[in-house]
Amino acid sequence: ERELCLTIVVAGASGDLAGKKTYPALQFLFQHGFLPRNVAIIGYARTQLTNQQLRDKLRPRLKGSDKERDDFLGRCTYVAGAYDGADGWNKLAAVLNEREARARFCCQPCGRLYYLALPPSVYPQVCAGLKTYCDDIPPSDGSWLRVIVEKPFGNDLQSSEELSDMLGKLYPEKQLYRIDHYLGKEMAQNLFVMRFANMFLSPVWNRNCISNVQITFKEDFGTQGRGGYFDSFGIIRDVIQNHLMQLLAFVAMEKPLSIHPDDIRDEKVKVLRCIKPVSDHNVVLGAVHDPTVPPGSKTPTFAAVTLFIDNDRWAGVPFVLKAGKALDDRKAEIRVQLRPTPHFVFGGDPETARNELVVRLQPDEAIYLKMIVKRPGLETGDTAISELDLDYGKRYPGVVIPDAYPRLILDAIRGDQQHFVRRDELRAAWAIFTPLLHAVDAGRLPVHPYPYGSRGPEEADELLARAGFVKNREY
Ligand code: BG6
Repeated sequence: ERELCLTIVVAGASGDLAGKKTYPALQFLFQHGFLPRNVAIIGYARTQLTNQQLRDKLRPRLKGSDKERDDFLGRCTYVAGAYDGADGWNKLAAVLNEREARARFCCQPCGRLYYLALPPSVYPQVCAGLKTYCDDIPPSDGSWLRVIVEKPFGNDLQSSEELSDMLGKLYPEKQLYRIDHYLGKEMAQNLFVMRFANMFLSPVWNRNCISNVQITFKEDFGTQGRGGYFDSFGIIRDVIQNHLMQLLAFVAMEKPLSIHPDDIRDEKVKVLRCIKPVSDHNVVLGAVHDPTVPPGSKTPTFAAVTLFIDNDRWAGVPFVLKAGKALDDRKAEIRVQLRPTPHFVFGGDPETARNELVVRLQPDEAIYLKMIVKRPGLETGDTAISELDLDYGKRYPGVVIPDAYPRLILDAIRGDQQHFVRRDELRAAWAIFTPLLHAVDAGRLPVHPYPYGSRGPEEADELLARAGFVKNREY
């Protein structure tokens, strides 16, 4: 196979996201030999920087020895330019064309990956610039061009549709990779396998046996200087509408026809479309005091919402999505709680001795199933709650679980869209949250203050109790 000439353009290269996620992910792929030998990474942004200045800025973000960092940084160059106007784009185009002309001369296929590590407000200019001035990839066999875009994909249903229309005019869906990095997490991907590869789960995975589902995201830090961005978005747009909804789709979807990306995404869309918009009484909002958020802001940094999926499998089963910043813990997990065992002959209260399947995404990937077992010993009928436990650290010692970003960038390089959000998925997810978001923006819903480092507003516990969640009594 002829080797690919791969060029990655990181638009927004001088920004926070690029430094924190994009470049370290590319370094990981580079170091582990996942990028072709002929790879160049070209940063583009408005800040005036030399190649050397970019490298100095990136170096502390990278991993490994000085030599390892330098090897990677040797592939990174920089072009400064505006997002509107022609000058900067022409400079970039010249660099791209020179590089690819050489490849074409050697009959090498060219892959071009545009990574937009930018706020969507500049997507229109940036995409138009790239399309108009740079899109001349050589027409040789096996050449391709793909665009990775970062969330937030809009602000509500309408703005997201406008953004999609704009992008869609420039790049067909097959070339667009909307990143939701939760789809790149090991346990998100495992959720899909676990659900559809295990016979013992399928007969219980429905409203007959499952009482409620909780999907929780907690961070023990605040907006970390991103208060400005956060203030205009809030936790629902930042985490719930995208990351948690993607997890919900995996928990609730039907088995796809095949593992072809479009078959999988077809099923995800179907289940999302069965969810009615969130109603006001199924929401609890909270706000922590944050010095970087403008005073008087009522933007929620905490939200718990209950959703219902109107289909045969799930009707009436509450799905509680809960996310908060500045809480007491850092954790992301899915908790599927089963109904109480009927005719419980063992003494004790079956209400508080429920089977529960927990998938922990982070920290410390794990899957465990809470089970009622006989308490060891001579007493007959004495039971206890124990766990069938798959702890990744213990089961796969020494195995490095790659981060989400390298995994997803590699998928894009390989042309696999499975773990990227398709336009209709995005639309369905926004449709569920848009009326709620408008009510929040208009200040129509109460926002409960909560102290930094707490569990969040107590009202959320009531919401969970209404959803039928029962805390297991450890005994
Ligand atoms: C991002 C959000 O998408 O996800 C952040 O914008 C959040 O606010 C982050 O902190 C969480 O990602 P992870 O991988 O650390 O759980």
